[in-house]
Amino acid sequence: MELMKVRNYGELSERVGEMVIEKVNALEKPVLGLATGSTPEGLYEYLINQYKAEKVSFEHVVTFNLDEYVGLEKEDINSYNYYMNEKLFKHIGIPAHQTYLPNGNALDLNEEAINYEKRIKQAGNIDLQILGLGLNGHIGFNEPGTPFTSRTHIVQLDESTRQANARFFISLDEVPTQAITMGIETIMESEQIVLLVSGEGKAGALKRVVNGEVSEEFPASILQKHNNVIIIADEAACKLL
Ligand code: GLP
Repeated sequence: MELMKVRNYGELSERVGEMVIEKVNALEKPVLGLATGSTPEGLYEYLINQYKAEKVSFEHVVTFNLDEYVGLEKEDINSYNYYMNEKLFKHIGIPAHQTYLPNGNALDLNEEAINYEKRIKQAGNIDLQILGLGLNGHIGFNEPGTPFTSRTHIVQLDESTRQANARFFISLDEVPTQAITMGIETIMESEQIVLLVSGEGKAGALKRVVNGEVSEEFPASILQKHNNVIIIADEAACKLL
């Protein structure tokens, strides 16, 4: 694992933005794995600005998001589908049929999980996967205890995760209890992974990613076993390293 320390969130967003653009410009049919949450918002703003400045085109890019809540309509302002459209897709000229998120409203969620895996395979696997870090070490929505061999599946969200995400909802009661997420093995098959970590609140979690024991009790620790991982973390997040 390579740890890239940056001064602040702005620098973090710019660094990862440049990595994404480099990949998009280098490959004929780049496949990006994308994340939601607060951490990648600066990255998406950066990409929109670079697109407007004609530094990059997304016409030939395919994207797969990590996860989606179960039971929210696509148009729900808290769905990850809505988040991705508002914060990135509708601003960068990417064809809608090239952007994939798991459908958390599918009638048969297990079938949806299998189909999502197939779509990733058909696209030729993920070239660059962006990850955020949950306070409890979750990646995507793979909560502590998820087998490292998991593929895309339905999860029961931890109470701590629901509380952490409640800030986006009117009340905690509105936060879904389930989600559909790429599995840990699915994520680990990505050619390259960039983990973004910002802020003092994540310092303890980052310390466990870098120095902790590799254990299913702390899902992000598996990244120690991937041969092409870059962690971009700001000074506040590196406080305990
Ligand atoms: C959420 C998402 C993850 C995200 C993580 C951290 O629950 N499912 O994909 O990386 O939590 O979020 P944030 O960046 O807001 O701290």
